[in-house]
Amino acid sequence: MNYSKEEIRKAARALSERYRQGTPPFLRSPIDRHAYLLTRFPATAAALKRVFQEIRTFPIQSMLDIGAGPGTSWEAASETWSSLKRATLVERDADFVEIGRSMTPADSVAWVCREASALKGMERHDLVLFSYSWGEIGDLAVLEQAWQLAGQFLVVVEPGTPLGFTRMLKARDFCTQQGGIVYAPCPHSHACPWEKSSDWCHFGVRLQRSFEHRHAKEAALGYEDEKFSYVILSKQEKPSPGSRLLRDPIRRKGHTLLTLCTEQGIEKITLTKSHKEQYKKANKMNWGDRFL
Ligand SMILES: C[S@@+](CC[C@H](N)C(=O)[O-])C[C@H]1O[C@@H](n2cnc3c(N)ncnc32)[C@H](O)[C@@H]1O
Repeated sequence: MNYSKEEIRKAARALSERYRQGTPPFLRSPIDRHAYLLTRFPATAAALKRVFQEIRTFPIQSMLDIGAGPGTSWEAASETWSSLKRATLVERDADFVEIGRSMTPADSVAWVCREASALKGMERHDLVLFSYSWGEIGDLAVLEQAWQLAGQFLVVVEPGTPLGFTRMLKARDFCTQQGGIVYAPCPHSHACPWEKSSDWCHFGVRLQRSFEHRHAKEAALGYEDEKFSYVILSKQEKPSPGSRLLRDPIRRKGHTLLTLCTEQGIEKITLTKSHKEQYKKANKMNWGDRFL
């Protein structure tokens, strides 16, 4: 289908407004899916690639994606793991399934056009994923089923807004009550220190915009920063000791300020040249990285 630039811009604007306001149904017509592919697909793929980096050393062979949209996760997962052999992508929107099928290899990707509430009887997969879909699904019975189907990891990625963070925490809390271990971003499985605060844990990734993406968003900049909240829950793997950088380091002459999530809670520390190796390391780090 050919749409004019103006039609696409209008659809992209309306779609992003619906996501911002949380007014479903988000995808109302074919042009909405087209706008999603141009604007949201690159952003959610970039967030997923960043999140998957945390577990890239585990040889993931299979992935179950619930609320898969047009199959964004396949791009990110197949780029991260050469070990990946198969993916099952569950999506209730038949048009997205059709688009997704045309963009993913049929020998590795099985599409299931189904409600997320009908996961019963599905096989276990090494990795189970909710990518920007848990907020829309929001049903703990689905999460429970998903947790049972996760062989090694369950990953939840949500928009990096206070609401996305709250929803992600709900999944985090539920899975830790089922015995899940928080593998990332938190360096511990205790209650989140920001659970009852006005602050929220989120991270960012910068992605380059294609020409079409820029046009669809009427954007002046050639890049955008996608903000996301996430949790990786594991069945067995414990995170290596350390802390997580919750903000970009503030670099001043002779010292660097860090905001860290640690086993003991949120810590703000100042490193100077006298901290030698730690100071050097801090100066190479970015928001979201693991620290010692
Ligand atoms: C924001 S999109 C995210 C798509 C994709 N995961 C991504 O990251 O680009 C949310 C997707 O979840 C799907 N979804 C929402 N509720 C669902 C449900 N109950 N069962 C199956 N899919 C659902 C929607 O149709 C939509 O495609």
